[in-house]
Amino acid sequence: MILAPVDEIAELFGSAAAEDYLGEPVTVLAHLLQAGALAEAAGVSPALVAAALLHDVGHLPGVGDRTGRELMTGTDNRHGAQGAAWLARWFPPPVTEPIRLHVPAKRYLCAVEPSYFALLSAASVYTLSVQGGPMTEAEASEFEALTYATDAVAVRRWDDQAKDPSADVPGFDHYRPLLEGLAAS
Ligand SMILES: [Fe+2]
Repeated sequence: MILAPVDEIAELFGSAAAEDYLGEPVTVLAHLLQAGALAEAAGVSPALVAAALLHDVGHLPGVGDRTGRELMTGTDNRHGAQGAAWLARWFPPPVTEPIRLHVPAKRYLCAVEPSYFALLSAASVYTLSVQGGPMTEAEASEFEALTYATDAVAVRRWDDQAKDPSADVPGFDHYRPLLEGLAAS
């Protein structure tokens, strides 16, 4: 059966793997819905809301060749790049590039913002070591020059905040019109 893009993503959000915690106090599903809600509350573009909502789809089985479970046992699943590649079938770079760059954005912020590291969850500190650690100065200036660096940093900050077990946010269907608009453009 061929599903419409948004139905395919809805299926992923409804999958059993989206109920995994991956070392955080919230499930992958709750984490993504919270990230989307934080972006929406910030009043950013629909593309950036979509990027926040979808930034971790690369953790889920069927998207890339490795899952978030493998990342948590020490193998980098390159979930930003894998998620972005999967989504690029339907969505333009303003959606996929911040997703592709949200892990480099963590490595970047660790290099340039001394207070940032202390904000990371224990799981994020662990995965940082698997993902290459903080950027060097040269890597950080290369990152800064990228077109979507600012958007990737924004997604990263919502990512870090979207780990609240008591948050009450809209479900996936709330984002259907936004995603349908972006996929059709
Ligand atoms: Fe995340």
